[in-house]
Amino acid sequence: STLRDPADALLEWYDRHARDLPWRIGPGPRARGARPDPYRVWLSEVMLQQTTVAAVRDYFHRFTTLWPTVEALAAAEDGRVMGEWAGLGYYARARNLLKCARVVTHEHGGRFPETAEALRQLPGIGPYTAAAIAAIAFDRPETVVDGNVERVIARRFDIRTPLPAAKPEIAARAGELTPEARPGCYAQAVMDLGATICTPKNPACGICPWRDDCAGRLAGTAAELPAKTPK
Ligand code: ADE
Repeated sequence: STLRDPADALLEWYDRHARDLPWRIGPGPRARGARPDPYRVWLSEVMLQQTTVAAVRDYFHRFTTLWPTVEALAAAEDGRVMGEWAGLGYYARARNLLKCARVVTHEHGGRFPETAEALRQLPGIGPYTAAAIAAIAFDRPETVVDGNVERVIARRFDIRTPLPAAKPEIAARAGELTPEARPGCYAQAVMDLGATICTPKNPACGICPWRDDCAGRLAGTAAELPAKTPK
């Protein structure tokens, strides 16, 4: 795989090993170029901002059952939504969620804007979430960098500068790897790689789609990266 485009190698791995998550579409529709519902992508990304995938699953299912569209959520009573949010924490997120649903419904005709820049204007959507929605829902070539992605990239390029100082270099390297084709699948593939193979402890380098071109693996540093400046 050294001679193959790294994004292609990762996408091929994703097509076989993508986690089955309720806000994703199945492998069949994905192969036909279908895209997930932007409402579900937005809702999942807001819920995932400070909460794990495992904890979000049930909440996501309840919210989308009660409120299947952004218009339905916009019409919900504040107290009802806050009640369903209970347990997810960070209640400012739930307030902004409702605000955002109402702005999208009443000022954007119920359709989410498609660019990261326009998404960033909405309540509760920062640079990370905007990039994630633009890539995943609209296949825009945005680079999505969260903690998992930082670890994958620091290892892949053997970036030994500690966090947070390494952030600009990691973001630049991550950007260079982002493909024009299927950037939404690619963004989620890097997340899945970080969650299932390139884990914080005992990474499974032997079965990694990037094993042959990972500088950290070749240098023997992968499991120690990213380094962190002691607090
Ligand atoms: N964490 C944040 N966004 C995610 C996504 N779309 N899939 C898996 N994990 C995530």
